[in-house]
Amino acid sequence: MTAVIAITSEKGGVGKSTLAVHLAGAFAERGLRVALVDEDGRVGSSLGWGRRGPGLPFAVLEPGDVKPKAVRDLDAFLIDTEGRPRRRELRELSERADTILVPSGVSTLELESTLSLADFLNSEGAARRKLKVVLTRVPPTSGAGERAREDLREAGLTVCNTLVRQYASYLRAAELGVLCRDVQGGRSAQAWADILSLSREVL
Ligand SMILES: Nc1ncnc2c1ncn2[C@@H]1O[C@H](COP(=O)(O)OP(=O)(O)OP(=O)(O)O)[C@@H](O)[C@H]1O
Ligand SMILES: [Mg+2]
Repeated sequence: MTAVIAITSEKGGVGKSTLAVHLAGAFAERGLRVALVDEDGRVGSSLGWGRRGPGLPFAVLEPGDVKPKAVRDLDAFLIDTEGRPRRRELRELSERADTILVPSGVSTLELESTLSLADFLNSEGAARRKLKVVLTRVPPTSGAGERAREDLREAGLTVCNTLVRQYASYLRAAELGVLCRDVQGGRSAQAWADILSLSREVL
């Protein structure tokens, strides 16, 4: 069975494409068969990422190139969505996906936006158990990530244990069109360790 994993959020720029590309990379490193479809298509989305560099270790597809038969042979099929999807699109996405990953920063505004999206998806019934929040761009030292995780869990949300910390390696990886594990120096090893740990929670 292919696990269909959608990555979405009501707020733009929270780290969806970064997470989509890296999770797909972690699945590939673990030997899983994986593809990513980019339903956004603007600059900065995952399609552009793949084209900037030497090539990613998995296929990044345009929606028109998705062949249902080929998807069935995959272990994981990731969907990177555009920022600020309309609620109708969210509903449709929640029907297609087995897991809905919602990346969220730890600021009050971002947490509120995540809670409001969860409220909406929860009101859709079936979507409730599919939703998982991923705290990302977490300041590595302040404890804000742990606090946010606890607050969201108290509000009844499912939150991944792994905190994806904020490292410049992700920005560099996007510029170079590679994964953060392939960025020289800095904290790229820590960044990649976060991603691998998250990937094991997801699949
Ligand atoms: N863990 C992280 N640490 C540091 N920077 C990050 C991290 N995750 C994402 N970023 C940076 O945040 C910015 C937004 O990330 P990204 O493009 O992945 O967000 P998005 O949700 O896909 O945006 P959009 O809504 O425009 O599609 C980028 O500059 C990216 O490099
Ligand atoms: Mg994006």
